[in-house]
Amino acid sequence: MPDKLGPSATLRTGLSALIAYANPRSVAAEAYRQLRANIQFYSLDKPLGTVLVTSTEAEEGKSTVLANLAITIAQMDNTVILADCDLRRPMVHRLFDVKNEEGLTTVLLDASMKQLPLAQTAIPNLRILPSGPLPPNPSELLGSRRMTDLIAQLRGQADYVLFDSPPILAVSDAVVLATRLDGALLVINAGRTRREMAQKARAALQRVNANLLGVVLNNVKYDVRLHRYYGEEETD
Ligand SMILES: Nc1ncnc2c1ncn2[C@@H]1O[C@H](COP(=O)(O)OP(=O)(O)OP(=O)(O)O)[C@@H](O)[C@H]1O
Ligand SMILES: [Mg+2]
Repeated sequence: MPDKLGPSATLRTGLSALIAYANPRSVAAEAYRQLRANIQFYSLDKPLGTVLVTSTEAEEGKSTVLANLAITIAQMDNTVILADCDLRRPMVHRLFDVKNEEGLTTVLLDASMKQLPLAQTAIPNLRILPSGPLPPNPSELLGSRRMTDLIAQLRGQADYVLFDSPPILAVSDAVVLATRLDGALLVINAGRTRREMAQKARAALQRVNANLLGVVLNNVKYDVRLHRYYGEEETD
């Protein structure tokens, strides 16, 4: 995913910060459409319904990639739920500007809850399950039997369920989740992910037999030739 915003970019939230929504004719939006096609046609026999997005370390662009991918899939008339399983630094509710009073942790802790607290976004086919209040024991919650049930419940309510997570090398949350989902995407940040770290992350996923679908290269240098090819209107 091209870096369109420069190194000085600070935390940006709200739909207008998500390029797949704000600028669908951009090179980045086209890259997300290619990623969507790769996911949709990954296996015709066993379609991918639940996908984890993770990375080796913090701030490599997991939540950004995930949010843009979710928008891009929803734009093609597939129903999508984005579940925030980063119970340490949740970001999805901020990116989509939805409340986070109730969410994933509320559902996991309150077995009597009948309806999932899904928030509708401004994008018709895209709903969010925010993190909910942060728990003291994220790994246990994500590894619980109740979480397995919740994954199935979410899957029953959308064509695709995408899961955000903390980085792989920091805590076990992402690896635990990956074993329960159809596949995992590893975000590599061209500017900062170190090769050995990427290898360690891949090994961690392989050790638990997670289905590593591939790598999303984020923050790559902007390619002017692609820019012309796709007829993008911007000049920066
Ligand atoms: N391709 C990109 N171009 C410009 N800025 C980007 C790009 N990808 C991510 N960013 C910015 O980098 C910062 C970190 O991104 P993001 O929150 O998606 O990372 P993360 O891996 O989810 O972080 P965390 O480990 O805290 O969950 C954000 O401010 C985001 O807007
Ligand atoms: Mg994040």
